[in-house]
Amino acid sequence: MTASKGELFDGALQAQIKARFLHVDHDMTGRERLFFDNAGGSFRLKAAVERFAAIDAVPDNPERIHEVAVFLQEVQARGTQDLRTILNAEGGSVYAALTASGAMFDMVRAIAENVPGTNLVTTALEHPSSFDAVQLYAQRLGKELRVAPANPATGGVDVDAIVNLVDADTTLLSVIYASNISGAKLDIAAIVRRARAIKPDLYIVVDAVQHAPHGLIDLQQTPVDGINIAPYKFFGCRGSGMAWVSDRAAVLPHHKLAGKKPNFWDLGSAAPWQFAVVTEIVDYVCWIGGQFTDSSDRRTLFVCGIEKIELHERALLSRLLDGSDATPGLRRLPRVQVFLDYEDLAKRDLILAIGIAGLEYAQAVREYERRGVIVYERVATSLYSKRMLDSFGLAGAVRVSPLHCHGVADIDRFLRITQQVALA
Ligand SMILES: Cc1ncc(COP(=O)(O)O)c(C=O)c1O
Repeated sequence: MTASKGELFDGALQAQIKARFLHVDHDMTGRERLFFDNAGGSFRLKAAVERFAAIDAVPDNPERIHEVAVFLQEVQARGTQDLRTILNAEGGSVYAALTASGAMFDMVRAIAENVPGTNLVTTALEHPSSFDAVQLYAQRLGKELRVAPANPATGGVDVDAIVNLVDADTTLLSVIYASNISGAKLDIAAIVRRARAIKPDLYIVVDAVQHAPHGLIDLQQTPVDGINIAPYKFFGCRGSGMAWVSDRAAVLPHHKLAGKKPNFWDLGSAAPWQFAVVTEIVDYVCWIGGQFTDSSDRRTLFVCGIEKIELHERALLSRLLDGSDATPGLRRLPRVQVFLDYEDLAKRDLILAIGIAGLEYAQAVREYERRGVIVYERVATSLYSKRMLDSFGLAGAVRVSPLHCHGVADIDRFLRITQQVALA
């Protein structure tokens, strides 16, 4: 297969990958199902869940001098380093929050309140966690809010549309790495480069919650000031949002205990399991990388692993769209419409927005559920969807988000079920 159509894992590796996750083929009651809502919370790695329980079972306070406390400090140090491995970040501060939204609000606040300027720039495709934070501080501080519109043809936001809003008075640019409706990846490298050509010391924060489990992030290539991930959407556990802030952003005034160092961001007692789970995620992606490279360097293994995940997911996306001789893909199925269907699959994460003629979106989701498939309706009445749908000119969509632990047989099953739903 060519790079643009992706490349599947071989069958043996695919089976090993699936076996590492919980509840892939059956729900918690043992009922067979296809869970295609991984953008709302992904399959958990068995190792992450086990490690979460083992570390959280330890009563010891890490801020002590005894042996077990020192062990917990090492768990935190390792997880901190592993977040840097995911991002290819050097320096800066790692921040363990309870949610990705919480981390984003804190990063936006520190920058909006303390960096001079008269406007804040963002996009219509942001999740409310970043959009509402930017809007809130724009209002509170009397700064202008500038919002770049989406491009319905690509499902993303054009670089020009964002960069045209940036000027010498921009306090902050906040931008999502990939849309959690269309799956479109924004060209973050070009956005950062061109925005900083206008304002060289521009502060930039990136919401990487959607993109991080699906592709490479490299802050050495594309330096930003703040970025967050949600481990529960990245094969890990709920109750944790991890962020990294640059050296200069880390020392901006923010909520912290007065006695802590100026660049310290954790507020109160961080949970060691949050860090342990990041390490399990990185171990897993490195394990995939190790199937393809002899390197023992952790970032090299991670890069290889996440690139292989990306290629496999692209092949699944291609299969979803175009099917095979035996099973027609979504693009060919009568009564099925694929929204925001940009041709270049290399610019898309494994997420699809579809509609089925004659079926209201929530009704379609129910019909899927009756046939053992979990997908998600994105409708304009939802605060999580309205602005993005409006920007695309869509009334709604059924979001379909499998994961790399799925194989071609899962996709074909979904296609056959879609055919039944469309004809129901
Ligand atoms: C793109 C994106 N950003 C941020 C968030 C917020 O994550 P959390 O639920 O951890 O606050 C989500 C969650 O849906 C998301 O999809």
